[in-house]
Amino acid sequence: MTTEFSITAPNNGFRAELEASARSIKADALVLFLADDGPGKGAAMEIDEATGGLLSRLFSAGEISGKPYECVPVLNPTGIAAAQLLVVGIGPRASVDQGILHRAAATATRHLSARPRDTVVLLADGAWSTRQIEQAVAGSMVGQVGQDLYRANKKRVRFRTTIWAQAPAEAVTTGTLIADGVNLARRLVNMAPDDLYPQTFSEEAAAIAGRTGMEIDIWDEHELARERCHAILAVGRGSSRSPRLVKVTYRGPGASTGAPDLALVGKGVTFDSGGLSLKPSDGMLTMKCDMAGAATMLAAAATIAAMRLPVHIVAVCGLAENMTGPSAYKLGDVITARSGTTIEIHNTDAEGRVVLADVLDVVREMGPKRIVDAATLTGACMVALGHDVAGLFANDQLLCDSVVAAAHSVGEGVWQLPMYPEYDDQIKSEVADIKNVGDGRWGGAITAAKFLERFVGGIPWTHIDIAGPAFAEKPRPWIDGGGTGALVRTIVELVRGGEA
Ligand code: BES
Ligand code: MN
Ligand code: ZN
Repeated sequence: MTTEFSITAPNNGFRAELEASARSIKADALVLFLADDGPGKGAAMEIDEATGGLLSRLFSAGEISGKPYECVPVLNPTGIAAAQLLVVGIGPRASVDQGILHRAAATATRHLSARPRDTVVLLADGAWSTRQIEQAVAGSMVGQVGQDLYRANKKRVRFRTTIWAQAPAEAVTTGTLIADGVNLARRLVNMAPDDLYPQTFSEEAAAIAGRTGMEIDIWDEHELARERCHAILAVGRGSSRSPRLVKVTYRGPGASTGAPDLALVGKGVTFDSGGLSLKPSDGMLTMKCDMAGAATMLAAAATIAAMRLPVHIVAVCGLAENMTGPSAYKLGDVITARSGTTIEIHNTDAEGRVVLADVLDVVREMGPKRIVDAATLTGACMVALGHDVAGLFANDQLLCDSVVAAAHSVGEGVWQLPMYPEYDDQIKSEVADIKNVGDGRWGGAITAAKFLERFVGGIPWTHIDIAGPAFAEKPRPWIDGGGTGALVRTIVELVRGGEA
């Protein structure tokens, strides 16, 4: 695999050592993954032997259990060159998978990155598959990055050198590209809304497209008007920052030159005040995260491009700031979306679907084989599924099943909700073709999806509502609070297809 394209600085101090004997590498820490049946097998057994049975003794004494994400530092262990051995649990050996290894590796590096470290070695196990190594590598990079963008006193410090021992170089390269995507999405979400608005988001996208060999097309407010994107323009009208539509295109080696295989669509509301249907202060506090769908799709496209996958994809982001300025769109307004469908506005806080109406129409016109969108669309989806699980909505069960399978392989939570035709009744309007909210709040995630369905023109489509998982108010053992990069790994996996 070429490393010519990388999303951030080349190589990031990441190294693979296929044969390296982990016990002899001088390092600040050696990370060892331990299953809950003890150190009797694989890499753990090697280290147990090197240390004269230290791990066995700790395990028998109950000081280490191998429970998922348990982190136990052992200082100055004899028999290995590292200054500390960090034992991280991965649970039952039989249920070890990509998701667990991703989170376990992230837990270990998150723990260690609380202080500066020169070199950290992570030891892969011979029993892991290539995909499992890739996800562990990705986790080990994600764990070293937090939401301290604006702090002088950083909460996390990246290791100067991270070495994966007994891991093939290609798996380490792929893992770092996946992590670059996740960390990119997180950084964009974590940026303050006064720094990241439609124009600056599009500039970030242009820089990323340049680094990964993607084409980019940016529509400003004039181009949006020429393209009849009245819905995106309506949402952006209350802000002094004008909206944008960003389209990045990647055509991989041997990929189709005609219509894209897959169109990725992202909601990019760079700040959602609610507009005239103003949010209460508590609900507004985290609304810099409302561009997470756009960040996820841009980041996934960047990773796919950096990996040189043999596909033709586009990622299209609808960018607007939902504010209350003197020209803000109003309740009772009727907007003619790009498709010609008229939308009666009942609530200016249901702005994401209004933005996506035009973006989906732009994408429909390109005639892709499949469309997947990601959006922090509804609080109702969080009521249904909580913080960690994204909602899925589809007009095509096959595509939806592939998204479920991809999410399942990489260990991200998704759950499909129904799209019965009866829900369509709720978005009927007396004065326009449709209105932008359902009747009352029940089933609000589904009525929002039903609204989007009107704009995909029957192309196989899956909508992912990431309102829950996109942003974490509290840290988890494997990731700091803030933007999570949720679903980036799933989208990359969807495009790669399962392990050969
Ligand atoms: N961006 C919000 C949804 C959201 C809420 C995302 C919480 C992340 C966390 C969206 O634009 C919104 O405000 N939706 C409304 C729709 C309602 C007015 C029909 C909601 O969910 O309350
Ligand atoms: Mn809103
Ligand atoms: Zn919103």
